[in-house]
Order: sequence, then C-alpha cells, then structure tokens
Amino acid sequence: LDPGATAVAHPNIALIKYWGKRDERLMIPYVDSLSMTLDVFPTTTTVRLRSTARADSVTLDGSPARGEARHRVVAFLDLVRQIAGRTEPAVVDTRNRVPTGAGLASSASGFAALALAGAAAYGLDLDPTALSRLARRGSVSAARSVFGGFAICHAGPGTGVAADLGSYAEPVPVADFDPALVIALVDAGPKAVSSRAAMRRTVETSPLYRSWATSSMADLSGMRAALRRGDLDAVGEIAERNALGMHATMLAARPAVRYLSPATVAVLDSVLRLRADGVPAYATMDAGPNVKVLCHRADAARVAGTVRDAAPGCAVVTARRGPGALLRTG
Ligand code: DP6
Repeated sequence: LDPGATAVAHPNIALIKYWGKRDERLMIPYVDSLSMTLDVFPTTTTVRLRSTARADSVTLDGSPARGEARHRVVAFLDLVRQIAGRTEPAVVDTRNRVPTGAGLASSASGFAALALAGAAAYGLDLDPTALSRLARRGSVSAARSVFGGFAICHAGPGTGVAADLGSYAEPVPVADFDPALVIALVDAGPKAVSSRAAMRRTVETSPLYRSWATSSMADLSGMRAALRRGDLDAVGEIAERNALGMHATMLAARPAVRYLSPATVAVLDSVLRLRADGVPAYATMDAGPNVKVLCHRADAARVAGTVRDAAPGCAVVTARRGPGALLRTG
C-alpha cells in the first residue's frame, strides 16, 4: 500500500474575525482576518492514493465520514487532483485530538492538514502561499492554520481568478508576544446553525454587516500595531470589540443568528470582573458558545479558575501560540 503523506495542523482563533464570503465557490472572504494558531487540539491527517479503488474513502476519528463532512473532503480532493492533473482515488484518515463533543473540532486545522497531506500525496510542490490558498478552498480559516503564531488572511481584490490569487494568509512576525488563551468549553451541544449558512444569512439580511466590515478594517491596522508593541491590553480590547461586533451583526440578521448562550454571558461577566480586579483578560467568541480569554501567561491559572467558577461544569483548556502545519516524515 502507498505509504501516503501525513500532516499535522492546529486550530487558530481569530482576533480579527472573518465572517462572510464574497464568492462562495472560490471561498473568498469579504474581510481580512488575523489569528493566533494554537498549540492544542491538533488534527492529524493521512492521505494515501489507491488507484484500484472506485471512490475516495474518508475516515474521521475512526468512523466513515458521511453527508456534508464527506462531501467537503471529496470536493477538496477533486480540487487537489485537478491542480495535480491526477485521477487516483484517495484513502483519507483524519484524527482530531479534541475533547469529544467540545464544539471545537475545527475545519481550520482539518483543511490545513488535508491541504498539506493531499498536496504531498499527489506530488504537488506548493510554496506556503499556494498551500494557504489551497487550504482556503476547504475553509477560509484553514488558510491561516498553515502558519504558526500569528497570521493574517488577505481578502484580496477583485473577482474570479484574480480574487483566488489574492486571497491567502501569511505570517505576522510578532517576536515578543506570547500570551495565554484560556478556552472555556461551555457547551457540548451541536451547533444551532452551521457557520456557512449563518454567514450567508448575515451578509444577505443584517443591516449591520457593512458597518462591521468597515470597522473591522480599522481594527486590523490597530491590531497589527498592538501586536508589534506586544501590548496585550490593546490586542485584547480590539479583539473583544471585533468579536462582539461580529455577534451583533449576526443578532441583527433576519432571522437572528445567536450562538451565545447564558453560560457564554456568565463567562463574559467574569472576564469583566477580572478586569475590574486589575487582571488584563479579554474575550473572543466564534460560531458557538465557547469563550476564549486572552491574558498574560502569568495570570492564566487565575483566569482559568474564575472562568470555571462562572460556568460550573465547563472544561477549561489553556493554550499558547502553536506551530504551523507540518508534514510528518518517516
Ligand atoms: C467565526 O472558516 O469555519 O470562526 O470558510 O465557511 O469554512 P468556512 O467557515 P470557517 O469560519 C470561521 C468563522 C469564525 C471567525 C474566524 O475564524 O475568522
């Protein structure tokens, strides 16, 4: 059997969010985004070619993938084969190291690992920009997980081929900034609305979407400057307002998209109390009720304890900046 290629990638958390696509087929975002890749919850994916098979075989955490999950992987493999000029079906095996049902199984780490392993298995030699562009076709946030530390994903100009070429992530070199991100896994339930459907509805119906997108551009330049200074308070303030603004645009969609639960709000209140007590801590939330709290590493244990008390029963994991996607050799 073909030994194939194995890649490992980690999730990332956006400090400046991506929300909304201007081209759904090519997966082109409306706004630039900026994230921190984490050192927890890696995805490991092996892609082997099997020319005798009639179709791709896709296994997720030991079980055959079905429905939408399988469809997205097969469509992505079709794209890799088209670029490589190959036709062999693949056997894909993906494993996520995430607490079961934590709602953090990430399409970012998933498609970053699949892009790297798939490109290697089909003999594509891609530079990091081309790899990031490829990963974007699986999930826009995956473009950023190709890189470690902090990464910016450009929305890029134009339409069609020009847009495809111009939309990719690249590293934001940030030498002296190494904060903690305390992740409160407040709810194990399945997602209310898929982020894909929710962002479409937000773009189409929320009267706040355009103004959020405009303010996001200002947030991005403030964020880059704050990261350069290693200024946790400024990074946190900008990240928190950017995330709350994104959730406000969703709440204004028709019908409303609401990911934040009572437990989310309880954790947000505890973050405000921490700040009132002089502990710099700032929250960000994505397409779900989990809260990620940015703080100094020296404060991480106290922040984790406070967050745990605010949402009894929630699991708390402390992350730091992590590595980019890597091929595993041998
Ligand atoms: C709220 O990248 O998962 O986490 O591109 O449709 O696959 P698709 O969506 P995805 O959306 C992530 C949205 C977010 C913000 C972010 O990570 O920038």
